[in-house]
Amino acid sequence: MARPVSGARVTGWGSYAPSLVLTNADLERMVETNDEWIVSRTGIRERRIAGPDETTGSMAAVAGLRAIATAGLAPDDIDLIIVGTLTPDYPMPSTAALVKAAIGNKHAAAMDLAAACSGFVYGYATANAFVASGMAKHVLVIGAETLSRVTDFSDRGTCILFGDGAGAIVLSASDEPGGTMGIELTTEPAGAYYIWLPAGGAARPASDVTLATHEHYMKMKGAETFRMAVRTLGSTSLASVRSAGLQLSDIDLVVPHQANVRIIEGLAKSLDFPMERIFVNVGCYGNTSAASVPLALAEAVATGRVKQGDRLLLVAFGAGVTSGAITLQWTADPAAGERAAGIGPSDVTIRPGYLEPVNPFPAALEWLRSDAGTAPAAE
Ligand code: COA
Repeated sequence: MARPVSGARVTGWGSYAPSLVLTNADLERMVETNDEWIVSRTGIRERRIAGPDETTGSMAAVAGLRAIATAGLAPDDIDLIIVGTLTPDYPMPSTAALVKAAIGNKHAAAMDLAAACSGFVYGYATANAFVASGMAKHVLVIGAETLSRVTDFSDRGTCILFGDGAGAIVLSASDEPGGTMGIELTTEPAGAYYIWLPAGGAARPASDVTLATHEHYMKMKGAETFRMAVRTLGSTSLASVRSAGLQLSDIDLVVPHQANVRIIEGLAKSLDFPMERIFVNVGCYGNTSAASVPLALAEAVATGRVKQGDRLLLVAFGAGVTSGAITLQWTADPAAGERAAGIGPSDVTIRPGYLEPVNPFPAALEWLRSDAGTAPAAE
């Protein structure tokens, strides 16, 4: 076992977004909605959809390999793999175990983490504890989701919001200044069923009935979720920044969970924090749950929004109701992101099971893959 170290820092980062794009115009043809309503209520213009050959595991593996390359490490340097997700490839084995094989790692421990949209931030906090205790030197933390497989594309209240993708970091032991400064995690079960995927677990096992009643799709109380999100994001952010011994004004960039631009604006208002210092990319990806913070972080670094020495606040909330915030000082050279150039889906293979393969692609989106590429008009 390695000796305990004083700190942990982000040394690698990476992301992966599938290439299929579902626009608001497409959704207009599927459900009774319109671009103006979606943009004004959410800020979302399009979202990415995983192809039939892609799963949470395959996207997680690409983002993970990119993060490892950025860190200048080899896959076998990773001691622990954590995948935050609410859409694992299977309830068991863990998606993290499949990712381990897909990236060619031989010795890491691997586990999934269930904290819904806060999964990546909870994963970061878990990784930080492993590193700080000396149990791991390099941890690969991934947030990855295939929400299109649990979205009811006949429910206009939810289908406009969600998308697919993956993001990852490598968190490494370090005795140098910088890195993780403050962590806050909360769970408020009073809102446990605000966002809910009812069927498929021990309480409501999958059956013909749960299938017929669409219980294997996400359900959401939108307005309640909205209010809870603004309040929780604000209180969790403040607690994390304070535990770092900082003030909000010391934060150079906030990278929040990308659920909805109005929630992010509500957060800015409640904290009296300028929107210019909050990173927003929800317009292009929608809400990708556990993938959203690392996807946004990777894009923020790639687009020059993060410099060495900057103080960042990563903050998320999700079903549970979970919330988490990390205050950290960024120490890595953003140019290291170039090391991941050329890494893509062809570099990873998820080991198949022994059952006959199925087409996991949502039937309601089959047209998206066709040459015509136009949604059939809603009946
Ligand atoms: N297009 C057009 N109209 C829609 C619609 C859509 N896609 N979805 C809902 N509506 C309708 C509703 O049916 C309702 O109509 P009614 O007044 O005739 O009943 C009306 O728009 C207003 O609905 P409401 O739910 O009050 O809208 P809202 O302003 O609360 O916005 C959300 C809805 C979902 C965008 C908003 O509540 C939200 O963002 N919630 C948080 C969601 C979230 O972030 N979840 C993930 C958390 S990790």
